[in-house]
Amino acid sequence: RKTALNAQDIRAMKGGQPIVSLTAYTTPMARLMDSHCDFVLVGDSVGMVLHGLTSTLGVTMEMMILHGQAVARGLSRACLVIDMPFGSYEEGPAQAFRNAARMMAETGCAAVKLEGGVEMAETIRFLVARGIPVMAHVGLTPQSINTLGGYKVQGRGEAGDQLLADAKAVEEAGAFAVVLEKVPAALADRVTEEIGIPTIGIGASAGCDGQVLVVDDMVGFFTAFKPKFVKRYAELGPIAEEAIAEYAAEVRARTFPAPEHTFAETAPGSSK
Ligand code: KIV
Ligand code: NA
Repeated sequence: RKTALNAQDIRAMKGGQPIVSLTAYTTPMARLMDSHCDFVLVGDSVGMVLHGLTSTLGVTMEMMILHGQAVARGLSRACLVIDMPFGSYEEGPAQAFRNAARMMAETGCAAVKLEGGVEMAETIRFLVARGIPVMAHVGLTPQSINTLGGYKVQGRGEAGDQLLADAKAVEEAGAFAVVLEKVPAALADRVTEEIGIPTIGIGASAGCDGQVLVVDDMVGFFTAFKPKFVKRYAELGPIAEEAIAEYAAEVRARTFPAPEHTFAETAPGSSK
């Protein structure tokens, strides 16, 4: 993956053309977005989107590595960033380095992402100083759902100053970019203006330096719920279900397989 964009390339896009990103969890989806996205994120949202978990808390290192390897095989241009799952980095810098180094070694990712602001700054500094580019994630941090008390908008009112302090802390610690999730648009614009690394918005503002969405949300494959910040660019879920229903009906009617899908006893050249 020598020609791929790296963390420094993404960092250098601050204030320029908006940075485009989506999540991916599989090789075919990664292939579809490689030429369109600047970075591709293997989010721990994989637990909810593909594994049916009700939060991201049950996602493991093994799941992230397996999906990270799959996505890596589908990318040649986009920068590959992989989420550190809940419990794999919060204990302290040494635990974070051990798991992040394993993630990089086993997937070939360009960077890892972890949730947290001021409280994670020491860990971010430790990783970056030892060769691991870090993308931070502040605002709504789903791994803290049990202490946040719900998937609420973050940083409204007085909490805005704390969110700005979090963004500044991760920048100062050496993060190359920071995701702002579900924060007021004006606050996202203020953070974008006041820090020197790219802000990547999700439920934030078009003024951010870039945007990210969960791909299954935006193509309409994941329909269990739809956050307000998701725009459905396609409705593939119903299309897939229609195809499945039609197949089921044809099997029951014995109209599938048709002659063109079956093989004769002997017919040279028709073995495919
Ligand atoms: O897990 C994820 O998909 C994410 C993005 C939504 C930023 O963290
Ligand atoms: Na995530």
